[in-house]
Amino acid sequence: MTIENVTSQPAGDSDVLESTNARQARVYDNFIGGENGLATDRAAGAWIRMQAPGLVAAMQANRAFLSRAVQWLTRQGVDQFIDIGSGFPVSPNTHEIALSASPSGSVVYCDVDPTVGERTRALIAGQAGASFVLGDIRNPEELLAQPAVQGLIRSGRPVACVLAAVLHFVPESADPARITAVLRDALPRGSYLVLSHVASDIPWGDGNDEETLKRATEDMYLRTQEQVTGFFGDFELVAPGVVSAPHWRGSEETAGDGPDLAIYGGVGRKI
Ligand SMILES: C[S@@+](CC[C@H](N)C(=O)[O-])C[C@H]1O[C@@H](n2cnc3c(N)ncnc32)[C@H](O)[C@@H]1O
Repeated sequence: MTIENVTSQPAGDSDVLESTNARQARVYDNFIGGENGLATDRAAGAWIRMQAPGLVAAMQANRAFLSRAVQWLTRQGVDQFIDIGSGFPVSPNTHEIALSASPSGSVVYCDVDPTVGERTRALIAGQAGASFVLGDIRNPEELLAQPAVQGLIRSGRPVACVLAAVLHFVPESADPARITAVLRDALPRGSYLVLSHVASDIPWGDGNDEETLKRATEDMYLRTQEQVTGFFGDFELVAPGVVSAPHWRGSEETAGDGPDLAIYGGVGRKI
């Protein structure tokens, strides 16, 4: 998300020095109720909330999907998670859900943003079973080689690899199909892939300012349901498949008869 262009306040020194990615993570954090941002991030968040409520609703639905998927996986007995593109911690975080269901489980967070790393490490300090590694999904081999990640994979037991709202930052030139194939191949049999991704074939809905949407999604690579489904390869899709995120095993309250939101969510199992 290119926030600089949609913020209602001028950029300060810190904005000039940092990457767009870092800013984008903090504005997303603001959408889902986190408090990791600066005043300028809150201003950008407020502006986008007003001008592009469909985008904010999709991001909130994404976070709710992530929680439901992790809860569902714990009920399947999964107690090992690799959460890539984990973002700033906002409760309920993956480790909070997973480790309360299974205190002897393990959660490895991974993000490319060192500030996300700092905040996550501060939160999980002293928490058995939770760790953070800095890594770039565009280099999956390097990410998989990290000892914390290897520890889970080498156990031979199922691991859930979580890619929530991260692959839409990966352009075709970085070959997301290859990235997901490398990750799938590395997982033991019975493992799961959890994936959410902004949709190119679901409208944002009414009441959104086109220009704001365009600018806010400038560095995202929106994809169709077919493309997102392709990232699961030969994994068996858990019902209801790849669907608009609120409809993935949502309660009546979250799924209901409401309109689709422009973000897909799905879970697949390695058979
Ligand atoms: C929209 S947030 C999603 C956070 C969380 N997964 C969720 O769904 O609530 C996207 C996160 O992906 C991270 N990210 C972006 N590009 C990445 C990359 N190439 N490798 C790893 N993480 C990346 C960003 O730093 C950010 O924290």
